Amino acid sequence: MDSTSAPWTYVEDVARHDGQVITLKGWLYGRRSSGKLHFLQVRDGTGTIQAVMFKGDVPEALFAAADKLPQEASILVRGRVKKDARSPLGFELSVEDLAVVQAAEGYPIGPKEHGVAFLMEHRHLWLRSARQHAILRIRHTIVKALRDYFDFRGFTLLDAPILTPAACEGTSTLFEVPYFDQKAYLTQSGQLYGEAGAMALGKTYVFGPTFRAEKSKTRRHLTEFWMIEPEVAYMDLEGDMALAEDMLVEVVGSVLGKHRAEIAGALERPIDALDRVKKPFPRITYTEAVERIAAAGHPMNWGEDIGGDEETVLANQFDRPVMVHRYPAAMKAFYFKKDPSDPRVALGVDVLAPEGYGEIIGGGQREDDLATLEAAIDAAGLPREAFSWYLDLRRWGSVPHAGFGLGVERTVAWICGLHHVRETIPFARTIERLAP
Ligand code: 4AD
Ligand code: MG
Repeated sequence: MDSTSAPWTYVEDVARHDGQVITLKGWLYGRRSSGKLHFLQVRDGTGTIQAVMFKGDVPEALFAAADKLPQEASILVRGRVKKDARSPLGFELSVEDLAVVQAAEGYPIGPKEHGVAFLMEHRHLWLRSARQHAILRIRHTIVKALRDYFDFRGFTLLDAPILTPAACEGTSTLFEVPYFDQKAYLTQSGQLYGEAGAMALGKTYVFGPTFRAEKSKTRRHLTEFWMIEPEVAYMDLEGDMALAEDMLVEVVGSVLGKHRAEIAGALERPIDALDRVKKPFPRITYTEAVERIAAAGHPMNWGEDIGGDEETVLANQFDRPVMVHRYPAAMKAFYFKKDPSDPRVALGVDVLAPEGYGEIIGGGQREDDLATLEAAIDAAGLPREAFSWYLDLRRWGSVPHAGFGLGVERTVAWICGLHHVRETIPFARTIERLAP
């Protein structure tokens, strides 16, 4: 195809080429015909545009061939960009020429409805659909907004190891890996390394994949997920909550700034719920949370974990994320500092997303006293030797400090309005799935 005078242009840039002849390089997403016209939906990764082929504009053989083009054929299309008020993009393309790069019948994902199991088996192809495309782009924006949030505030990125010698979040969800003549574990959280980083850098964040051998099949659990974990020296629980709140408002704002059309369109997610994500978020204690859950008809006792259903009952009482702080210390990991005014509770916070999307953030203030931390490690039945380096942080220059971890996938599920986290990550890993 001769495209010398038709520069290669991405769909998202067509507005800058109104009236000009361009070349698109993409794939056939869908097509319909009406006599003298073929309407070709062409996607190129940045967007989808309707390319209209008029019988009188192209050679007869090309017009006939276009009527048989299979879904997902890779194609080059030369044509003139035209304003079109009916198109969601605002533009369409009048086709002058089309060349096929590769075409094959039988693309497995047709316009008909497919079951989730089938789609997950074909995840490598499912990613091309409009809805998955929107999710991938929003995930990208969320990750970028998170990084920007911390980068613009003087935090330094600290890359924590993935192969670790010990548990951070409880021994029941560790993935063990043979490591020469010893055992290693895939990291459950970079937090302990983030704490070392905070003592060196003041404000730091760890951002990477984390692993939990979760045996539960729920819509909120993956075995591999991404977590961003800020950690700040001299910060207390109040400061930690303010940081989490400010960060979430900023991230939701970034997504709304860029993706309103996709959220309302491809994702059909009610957007008003996101517009309400403004400061201040309600802050309630665990004790108050238990009372509210019980009053809503779900009896539970102080000291019990707030399960997924109870989280939803609680979150539904608020129109924005709710911060639940001061959980019973016995329920929490060994590193939490206990509240000096009530040692039964830990200076920790969970942020619950609205609309039943569950806990998206967990964090709090860390125990900074050496002897107390040693006792907590022993009480948790963890091997003290494995934590000797971590205890060094309390031996020299220990200060109050706090941080949290935000799970990227649950955040994407909430913002995109997805029932299950399996659609929030390109290739989900769950108890039942290791492929593709
Ligand atoms: O509450 P978690 O377990 O906290 C920690 O790991 C702390 N060390 C973080 C810190 O303080 N630096 O996990 C934090 C978040 C959860 O709120 C949730 O969003 C996500 O990580 N998460 C999961 N996401 C998907 N699948 C799982 N199995 C997850 N487990 C935790
Ligand atoms: Mg948690």
